[in-house]
Amino acid sequence: MKEHYAIAIDGPSGAGKSTLAKAIAAELKITYVDTGAIYRTIGYVAWQRGIAPEDEAAVLSLLPQLEIGIAHGGEDGLQHMLLDGEDITDQIRLPQISMYASAVSAIPGVRDYLLETQRTFARRQSVIMDGRDIGTVVLPDADIKIYLTALPEIRAQRRFLELEQRGTPKPFEEVLAEIIERDYNDMHRDVAPLRAAEDAVVIDTSELDFEQSRELLLKTIEERL
Ligand code: DC
Repeated sequence: MKEHYAIAIDGPSGAGKSTLAKAIAAELKITYVDTGAIYRTIGYVAWQRGIAPEDEAAVLSLLPQLEIGIAHGGEDGLQHMLLDGEDITDQIRLPQISMYASAVSAIPGVRDYLLETQRTFARRQSVIMDGRDIGTVVLPDADIKIYLTALPEIRAQRRFLELEQRGTPKPFEEVLAEIIERDYNDMHRDVAPLRAAEDAVVIDTSELDFEQSRELLLKTIEERL
């Protein structure tokens, strides 16, 4: 096995990227980098300050004022997001932040601003990095590229159950409509749209449970390392 390597995991929301990437990171003892959390942090600030996330000039003017910290390797081994020193890891998961994150992520200046930060992680250590453009733009030389997907209805069903368990239920139809809208935004923006890299292994988890997906992913990775 190589000493220092990078695994890119891209795919639409709700395909299971983060849950699986966390499990793989723990198994392989490498760092899990959640790039969506960084876009969520910027989306969160826009939301908090009442800025329309499509307002390019307003969002860009926020960037130099923000002190965004990304911490790995704490007690829980997970990635924590800090904003001006405050841990906002939980706040950025609020359901309304997803669309804000998707909208700010379509702004080219926001993507440029975050590019080097993401690349630096992979230079320093072995990583499994999840996002939308990791295999295509952020780490085009990643050792392994996975495109993880599942049917929209299945992803919506998983999200629906998750919201119910969290005590913030929403009608299934609403969850599905949001998934479809976010897929559309993420796949049709001009810069770094979501798509599978040509050399990515496509894994569809529609008919797999978590354990089956984890095993398949691990096998795919170990075969290539
Ligand atoms: O993975 P997530 O759902 O937390 O990501 C939130 C949004 O951020 C997603 O809708 C699109 C954007 N994003 C992106 O454009 N590029 C990435 N590498 C990661 C996320």
